[in-house]
Amino acid sequence: MTENTDQLLNLSHYYLPVYRPRQVVLERGQGVRVWDSEGHQYLDLAAGIAVCGLGHNDPDLHAALVEQAGKLWHTSNVFYSEPPLRLAEELVEASRFAERVFLCNSGAEANECAIKLVRKWASSQGRPPQQRVIVTFRGSFHGRTLAAVTAGAQPKYQEGYEPLPGGFRYCDFNDETQLEAAMAAGDVAAVMLEPVQGEGGVTPAKPGFLRRVRELCDHHGALMVLDEIQAGMGRTGTLFAFWQDEATPDIVTLAKALGGGFPIGACLAGPKVAETMQFGAHGTTFGGNPLAAAVARVALRKLGSSQIAANVSRQSAALRAGLEKLGAETGVFSQVRGRGLMLGAVLAPAYAGQAGAILDAAAAEGLLALQAGPDVLRFVPALNITDAEVAEGLELLARAVARWRKG
Ligand SMILES: Cc1ncc(COP(=O)(O)O)c(C=O)c1O
Repeated sequence: MTENTDQLLNLSHYYLPVYRPRQVVLERGQGVRVWDSEGHQYLDLAAGIAVCGLGHNDPDLHAALVEQAGKLWHTSNVFYSEPPLRLAEELVEASRFAERVFLCNSGAEANECAIKLVRKWASSQGRPPQQRVIVTFRGSFHGRTLAAVTAGAQPKYQEGYEPLPGGFRYCDFNDETQLEAAMAAGDVAAVMLEPVQGEGGVTPAKPGFLRRVRELCDHHGALMVLDEIQAGMGRTGTLFAFWQDEATPDIVTLAKALGGGFPIGACLAGPKVAETMQFGAHGTTFGGNPLAAAVARVALRKLGSSQIAANVSRQSAALRAGLEKLGAETGVFSQVRGRGLMLGAVLAPAYAGQAGAILDAAAAEGLLALQAGPDVLRFVPALNITDAEVAEGLELLARAVARWRKG
């Protein structure tokens, strides 16, 4: 390791040690490839945790950022500027359901807005606080603010942060019977879920589940909130994942790939809730930042194109088939699941807990991927990845599995 890399890695002592990044310092990226400070090249099937939907350094995103950087960086929310105004219109039109948008800076912040919107809406209906329950699902992940970890229903992200905000109730994912029971008392204001659980293990909602959630919400006068922060922006094969489920939500949250790598989040509000929050009800200094919005406009246009949809479907089939083949040959995977380019390879019971070790071997072979818990390898590459790059990724993964097995 060079002295410079060593020095840089030592500086990590200044961070709160809440992460445990791989011991490499990434320096530049192009398409699905990144290079570290030692000059090593990696094929990147992690894409900044499903953020770089167009790969690294997309020329159109780059041009939009540079152009806006020469004009205006920030206005705050007390003045208008063109990029966020145009982005709001484009998001509403693209969504096929929303009437208004709140722009913010991250996924957690978009979900915080969604949760507050639900509560405000229930309050405007004259419901007392105890009748503003939000039902969420075990294994979900909605971000790291206090409300978002509470909604996320994963004890490992909640422990030590008690007291948690009240008014959340949990069900098992994909369990209609539990959901029916959870809503029976008539005190539920919303059901909130991911169309494909990402962090929780790359688990898709089973066919018809979103439709059933919609029916139950309609029956009980509750809102349906979809967190498309990871599954949205084309990742599952359509710009919005819910388009595939014949169930129109009331609120959708976006972030991650919306900015292609530039931080931005959005909370989209459908007709029932579009007028709920009025002047002063919510806010954020950086939301709708012109730089972020200028980049997001281009990302939205490109990720919503028919070429991207076609490529996601093609590469999803290739990646899935390759993972299944590797699983059959090695016995390491028991199942490959997910939708579009959000795929998870579930480790066979004998290899439970080994995802981190396999990813170490992958990095040594020049491949970057993610885990979704200790038992699932997660692949969320750029949506414009090519046939050759998917084939190369599978080849590197096969080598990584062999390296890891050798120990
Ligand atoms: C489904 C989902 N919701 C919310 C979040 C939180 O987003 P952020 O980390 O930008 O706050 C994530 C992040 O991984 C996510 O996958």
